[in-house]
Amino acid sequence: MPIEPKDLAPVLAAYPDRPWVGTVGSHSALDVADGAAQEGFSTLVLGQRGRDAVYRQYYRAHRGPNGELQRGCVDEVWSYPRFSDLAAPAEQERMRAHGVLLVPNRALSSYLPLPTIEEELRVPIVGSRRLLRIEERTERENYYTLLARAGIPIPAAVPSPDAIDGLSIVKLPHAQKRLERGFFTVASAAEYREKSARLLADGVIRPDDLAGARIERYVLGPVFNFNYFFSPLVPRADGLELLGVDERRESSLDGLVRLPAAQQLEMDAAARLPEYTVVGHGTLTVRESILEEVFRLGERFVEAARAWAPPGIVGPFCLQTCIDRDGHLTVFDVAARIGGGTNIHLALGHPYGNALWRSPMSTGRRLALEIRRAVDEDRLSEIVT
Ligand SMILES: Nc1ncnc2c1ncn2[C@@H]1O[C@H](COP(=O)(O)OP(=O)(O)O)[C@@H](O)[C@H]1O
Ligand SMILES: [Mg+2]
Repeated sequence: MPIEPKDLAPVLAAYPDRPWVGTVGSHSALDVADGAAQEGFSTLVLGQRGRDAVYRQYYRAHRGPNGELQRGCVDEVWSYPRFSDLAAPAEQERMRAHGVLLVPNRALSSYLPLPTIEEELRVPIVGSRRLLRIEERTERENYYTLLARAGIPIPAAVPSPDAIDGLSIVKLPHAQKRLERGFFTVASAAEYREKSARLLADGVIRPDDLAGARIERYVLGPVFNFNYFFSPLVPRADGLELLGVDERRESSLDGLVRLPAAQQLEMDAAARLPEYTVVGHGTLTVRESILEEVFRLGERFVEAARAWAPPGIVGPFCLQTCIDRDGHLTVFDVAARIGGGTNIHLALGHPYGNALWRSPMSTGRRLALEIRRAVDEDRLSEIVT
């Protein structure tokens, strides 16, 4: 049975006035912890042994006699043999006893099975528990269906390899690095056959993934990832905020484009095929005449998500877009939670968020402000699912 508000009400009722802010230790955990610490919360990172030194050692919070932060931002790290162990009943109980509000990130939804998050994790999530599933491209109903329903432009789907008649991208997982991408581009059915055969033979992709892959038209244009925030605590007209815009650095794609063509041609065929593993982020702004459309699409997404899975979006979300030569956006991916690129403005704030809030507003800080407001107004139940 999916976890419902009535299951969380007694949990919230027992929470302290200053709940802890917790998140899974990867992805955007530093941004969340930094923002929460800045707003006066204690912070918890749920880590996996062997990959928790950043939080446990390098960003560990040092507090003075009155609890004031002197260094770092992570008060406690609870580490497990595997991330998924954090959902064990005893660990959940420990989180509830602490008064932990969990901020969902991609590490949570990648390392824990979705049914566990939806049906077993009885810890309040600041965000949209039910919307995490829309990111799974193999689901019958996924973010593409939601975007289409919202009237948001998406890349045209190519129904089968034989229908490929222009530059297209084939989206499937990497064969060995299961959480990474085995994406490739093709411009014709013949190229699809040739390239997919090569990638299968090289062990980069798997036949079963290829059979279920999404093929869509390649949208030519720069990539902009819009990091929004939606607050259900304010009048609807004030609910949607744009905080900042990031772009991804992907390996080996970004390595390849830094090489002159002559050097690319010297590489063997396999090395010339780019991989799309995100390894870092940069910050961007958009031309102001495009902002109108950025807000329009954000509003549509908020409305469609609310109809899809009430209460819909709560807090941060990210629309990943390409902008074409007419300045129009096509959304090729969605995060119905904090995006992976928000560390670009850790502590400094996002340009658009700062312009709105008149002070440095990172995504992590914005989340913490929302929690603080909900606590102060006794409305925590409106921002958790
Ligand atoms: N339709 C498309 N047209 C052009 N580039 C695309 C398209 N879809 C994805 N990409 C590129 O591939 C990258 C990863 O795609 P995305 O759909 O975000 O995958 P993931 O779900 O793994 O994040 C994007 O950052 C973008 O550079
Ligand atoms: Mg993406």
